This record gives sequence, structure tokens and C-alpha cells, in this order.
Amino acid sequence: MSDFDFLKNELSELEQKDLLRKLVCIDSPVGPVIRIENTEKVLFCSNNYLNLANDSQIIAAAKGAMEDFGYGSAASRLISGTISPHIELEKKLASMFGKEAGLVFPTGYMTNLAVLGTLPQKGDLILLDKLDHASIIDAAKDSQAEFRTYQRTQFDRIEKFLSDEKYNRKFIVTESIFSMDGDFADLKKLVEIKKKYNAYLIIDEAHAFGCMGDSGAGLAEELGLLSEIDIVVATLSKSAGCMGGFVVGDKCVIDYLINKARAFIYTTSPLPSNSAAAICAVEIIKKAKNKRAKLKQNADYLREKLQSLGFDTGASSSHIIPVIIGDNKKTLELSKQLFEKGFLVVAIRPPTVAPGTSRLRISVQCEHTKKQMDNLVDCLRGILGR
Ligand SMILES: Cc1ncc(COP(=O)(O)O)c(C=O)c1O
Repeated sequence: MSDFDFLKNELSELEQKDLLRKLVCIDSPVGPVIRIENTEKVLFCSNNYLNLANDSQIIAAAKGAMEDFGYGSAASRLISGTISPHIELEKKLASMFGKEAGLVFPTGYMTNLAVLGTLPQKGDLILLDKLDHASIIDAAKDSQAEFRTYQRTQFDRIEKFLSDEKYNRKFIVTESIFSMDGDFADLKKLVEIKKKYNAYLIIDEAHAFGCMGDSGAGLAEELGLLSEIDIVVATLSKSAGCMGGFVVGDKCVIDYLINKARAFIYTTSPLPSNSAAAICAVEIIKKAKNKRAKLKQNADYLREKLQSLGFDTGASSSHIIPVIIGDNKKTLELSKQLFEKGFLVVAIRPPTVAPGTSRLRISVQCEHTKKQMDNLVDCLRGILGR
């Protein structure tokens, strides 16, 4: 047996089950249209919802910060890696969410690891939506607290766990817009329940930040519930078009994370230019009512069109619109055929989604044109024979 045969065997098993994942390399800025090997493709699977990933003001802000602060930060935040754009960004985010303080991380994944791996402690309970993002699940597994899951509307199950007196503190953790299904958490109901049982509610607004709410803070803002949410986590890597995650909440929560969160303490701080770019993105987002309106208009148009043709878009009611196919091989084949016809829509398969629910996760951008959406639907119809 040569070295690493055990890995090769597992990879070939994945391939046989149509579960092997491969990287797709893009040779252009990320926008509604991208270039891959000198061919243009219309991109329908990125999280660049507001088309800020290639925004000229954001690029200028990053360049300006490189002039002012250089490129690398060269240390973790608690050593010598806290640079003024980090602090300015944290203040801006806290104020946008009406919270006392904020903290930024190199990624959203690390933010969830830090928040859920640190705040809930031994003897506590973390209650997760079964379809919460991998970063939330991984963090809960890493935590000293016990964790249990519920399905979206199993409020009885949530209440059963919350009324169990064996736990010290209880934390409910949910995404606001679910990343693979594009449906909304029932935040109103969760707030009601968390108040009844004196639990903490943590929401991950990764896919709603920038896209919903009057100032773009997300679903909780849109529903007028921000002040009821104890801790908000989100990412700067999707609608903001930058990189990094953040958490906002009470000052003591942020101070505790600074002191105890290993995913914060033991890593180099975000690039100053990235935080400066994010400051600019946040300012754009606050004023981006038109972009949000256009995103919603595009999403409603595409979803209704797909539904009217009998495609299974699950429970989607946002700019994330799955077309659920079920079978891995069929989904992969569909994605390949769309690619040949000029679209990039990657096949999402287990373990990202449950077995038997493989899908194209179509995500809409505010700058997609009606023609691009019509063409996508026509191609899907042609391939699937509708
Ligand atoms: C709900 C949710 N939380 C967290 C993350 C992680 O964010 P990031 O890509 O910034 O690590 C993602 C995305 O990948 C996500 O969908």
C-alpha cells in the first residue's frame, strides 16, 4: 500500500456516490457575470447579493488603507494586531445594530466558533435549528455546554427543553435566513419563547445582513426585533463583499470574548485594508435601500417564475432560491449542463444538505437582469423538459 491510499480510497468512494467536490477557478472580479477559462458565465451561486464585491468605492477604501497602514497586521488582536480600522468598524457595527459593542473576526466561521464555543458553559444548553449552518453546529459540538436540535417549527420541542431545570442557562441559536433553503426563522415566536423561559437568543444574520431592514442590519431590524435579540452574529463576506465576521451585543459579552475566545485570541487580526473596506461597505449598505428593493424584486420574479413551472423551490421566500432535485447524480449533471450553456450554479449535495435533497442553490444578485434570469429558467426548462 502506498502512502495515503486510505484517502484515495475514500475519495474514489465519494466519486462513485457523486459526492466528490471540486474547485471551480474564476479569472475575473466577482459580479453577475464572471470569466472562467476565457468564457463568460452568468453567476447564480454567489453571496454577492448587493454586488459590492467589486465596488469601486470599497476598492478605493482598501487601497487607501494599504497606503496608511501597510498590508499585514502581523499580530493577533491582543498583542500588537489591533489597528484603528478594526476599532472604527466595531463601533460602526455596534451602533448600526443598536448594541453596546462589537468585535470583528477574520471569518464568520470563526465568529460562530468563538461565540458559541465560549459563552455557553458546562451545565448550559444550546438549542439549535437542525438546519443551522455548519459553523454553528461545529461550534456547539466544541462547546462545554450540551446541545440539542429542533426542526424549524417544533416550538413544543423547544419549550420542552427550555423548561428542563437541569440546565443553568439556555441559548437558542438560529440563522435568520437559512443558507441552503432561503426561508426565514420565526424570530417573533423565538423572541416570545426566549422571554417566557428567560433564555438567550443568538441569531446569525449572515444572509440577511445588508439585504433586509431599513438600514440593512437584517431580518431582526426588518421585524423591529433588534432590541430583543441578545447577540447578533453576521459576516462581512457576503452582501458586504469583503471578508470577515462580527458579533455585536452587550459590552460584557464582547469583553468576555476578548478575554476567553480562543478563535479570537490565537489568530492574526484581519488585514487593516479589509476592515477599512468593510467600514466603507457598511456605509454603502446603510444607504442601499434601492439595492435591497431591486434584490427583492429580482428574487420574487425568479422564484415565482420557477414555481409557476413546477420547480420545487422548497420553503424559499428570500434571495436564496433552491431548486431541489433530490438525486446527487441528476443534480451534478444539471449543474454541468447549465455550465455548458453559460451559467455557474454549483450542485449542493450532502453533507451540506440532507441526503435525498441535493439541489441547485440559486442565489440572486441585485444587478442580475431580467434577461439573465429568463435565460436561466429557459435553460432549466430545456434540460429538464418542462
Ligand atoms: C449562516 C452562516 N454563518 C456563518 C457563515 C460563515 O461565514 P464566513 O464565510 O464569513 O466564514 C456562513 C457562510 O459561509 C453562513 O452561511
